[in-house]
Amino acid sequence: MSVSLHVNVDHVATLRQARGTRYPDPVHAAVVCERAGAAGITVHLREDRRHVQDRDVEVLREVVSTRLNLEMAATEEMLQIALRVRPDIVTLVPERRLERTTEGGLDVVARREELTRFVGTLADAGIPTSLFIDPVAAQVEASVETGAPVIELHTGVYAHGHGLEATRALHALAAAAELGGTRGLVIAAGHGLTSRNVGELVRRVLPLEELNIGHALVSDALFEGLDHAVASFLAAIADGESQR
Ligand code: PXP
Repeated sequence: MSVSLHVNVDHVATLRQARGTRYPDPVHAAVVCERAGAAGITVHLREDRRHVQDRDVEVLREVVSTRLNLEMAATEEMLQIALRVRPDIVTLVPERRLERTTEGGLDVVARREELTRFVGTLADAGIPTSLFIDPVAAQVEASVETGAPVIELHTGVYAHGHGLEATRALHALAAAAELGGTRGLVIAAGHGLTSRNVGELVRRVLPLEELNIGHALVSDALFEGLDHAVASFLAAIADGESQR
């Protein structure tokens, strides 16, 4: 099973919103990423609409020919948008207004009943749900109970940590992925991944089907071009897989 790359194009919209222009366009970016080999496109429609706008999600739904992953908070407003736009998958994330980016995983243990209803409503509409969680056994088990078919493991501590902290985080990710795999979940991962740290993650964390990568890839694109940045990440992922 190979690990697929889904590119999060939020930051293309961040740049556009900084000036209120029509460019750069996240839809254009999505097409470039797909042509460069990305297996999917991810966007986070935040409650405050700080980067991606509703129209972006609608146009992406028409244009994306791989898979469209809509990240969103578990709110009634977002649920209605997901049911209307019909992404290929919804990723539920926690959202705090003042955060710079998603800061931690969903507390599925504490919100199990509410999230189970959410996952069920989306499943009834034929839309699978992924839950973005910290690599903690109790969160994996609670995720299974919601009926969600996919979990996305938060890789932020691994990606931003140093030395022992990063090593411990990698072990936690490997253990959570293994547990989720034995429970029949599809395992995704993301947050803070770069072309330097993604290979080691892929080498050590099994099973792993999908990565969601945004900030570092879009940053690399400024200097290398977007197609080249996608190719570099694909090469780093393939390198990690070859060393398993
Ligand atoms: N996965 C989820 C659930 C996220 O919220 C984000 C950030 O929007 C990412 C992956 C991508 O993280 P990064 O931009 O650090 O690569």
